[in-house]
Amino acid sequence: MKKPWSGRFSKKTNKLVESFTESISFDKRLYEDDIEGSIAHVTMLKKQKILTEKEANLIIKGLGEIKSEIEKGEFEFKEEFEDIHMAIEARLKEKIGDIAGKLHTARSRNDQVALDIRLYVKRKVIEIYNLLESLQKVFIEKAEKYKDCISPAYTHLQRAQPVFLGHYLLAFVEMWERDKSRLIDCYKRMDYSPLGSCALAGTTFPLDREFVAKKLGFSGVTTNSMDAVSDRDFAIELLSILSIIMMHLSRLSEDMILWNTYEFSFVILPDDFCTGSSIMPQKKNPDVLELVRGKTGRVYGSLIALLTIMKGLPLTYNRDMQEDKEQIFNGIDTVIKSLEILVPIFERTEFNVKKLMDESKKGFILATEIADYLAKKGVPFRTAHEITGKIVAYCEKNNKDLYDLSLGEFKRFYPEFDRDILDAISIEKAVGAKNVVGGTGKKSIQNQIKMWKKRLKLE
Ligand code: ARG
Repeated sequence: MKKPWSGRFSKKTNKLVESFTESISFDKRLYEDDIEGSIAHVTMLKKQKILTEKEANLIIKGLGEIKSEIEKGEFEFKEEFEDIHMAIEARLKEKIGDIAGKLHTARSRNDQVALDIRLYVKRKVIEIYNLLESLQKVFIEKAEKYKDCISPAYTHLQRAQPVFLGHYLLAFVEMWERDKSRLIDCYKRMDYSPLGSCALAGTTFPLDREFVAKKLGFSGVTTNSMDAVSDRDFAIELLSILSIIMMHLSRLSEDMILWNTYEFSFVILPDDFCTGSSIMPQKKNPDVLELVRGKTGRVYGSLIALLTIMKGLPLTYNRDMQEDKEQIFNGIDTVIKSLEILVPIFERTEFNVKKLMDESKKGFILATEIADYLAKKGVPFRTAHEITGKIVAYCEKNNKDLYDLSLGEFKRFYPEFDRDILDAISIEKAVGAKNVVGGTGKKSIQNQIKMWKKRLKLE
């Protein structure tokens, strides 16, 4: 194939260079956005009378046909075409002859690729947003289903205090809501069409950039052509959001991997989403969750890769920027695949209510309630904490739990203990009454569920 720049060169491009510099093997997935962008551009060139009606219509028709060739798998993505932009243009030339060359009037691959990647990323942001919302819905349903189930909660992976299981589940719904709002935020910043920036300086052609932007669903146009062709902030920002999403998914996975162990046995993962061991028949491995945790690393890697690719680049476009695509695709694909599998897993995940309830009572988990009890009677909290510490040590020494203590035993540590202490260390009371806003109390959870149902329009 003759290169578009061949006029200046006396020799054909070396094969090694072709294969080193090509991006078609991965940017072919931008074909839809590339064609959509080209059609909008040509429609505008026609409206501005830069191309004749006939020329523009011929090009538009050809582009439509190429799209269906690609969709039917009839299109050959050859390395020598270098990238998706040139491959489509070359095919157009085969179909309609030299008129095809007019498509690139008042456009450069620099603003073209900036456009394509924005269009692609915008679509994917919406997809990820919706997947996050599906996962939120599953968790809200589970929170409601397990609204009476109490679970131990941890700090330092030590039993800290009991909570309602729903409280735990809704914590993730909060994280995903913040993730969603970050996505909306970054979407707004990337929602400007760079087309018309051309190579870097804009053009003398009388373009109607706003028309193209509107046709492609952008909220406006970029306002500095040098910035527009060298900016990849939107992709870096997205990768940082995707990294945070993966971090959240990874923490959830880690908890469920622990909860799925024989030692915890808090959760029952669906059989068809787990794998077994070829040698140890008793095993039910949470491989999917482990892989979500593991794949988090690749998304962080892509973020760091793109930051590094961009950091030393002089303005404006540099070929280094072609390296953005695989990182963007990797981040997006990993998050989408992870969310797509987590939704059905959690739809079918059950929790072991009996075990959670039993474990919630063990391990002096209500010691804080005793300290609070004393503090409410006017004992300074630090003193109350110390007294309670002594009670726990006494229990440990005598192999007793807090519930086993008689009022007489309590009084030995502090004479003002009263009969109501036995009530204060009832687990249902301790958990159910923490109704401060954001607490684990029964009313608080009910309010949280109500708030989420309203926010996500689930009623
Ligand atoms: N394949 C290139 C990329 O992804 C397209 C832009 C090429 N521009 C250029 N001036 N060589 O960045």
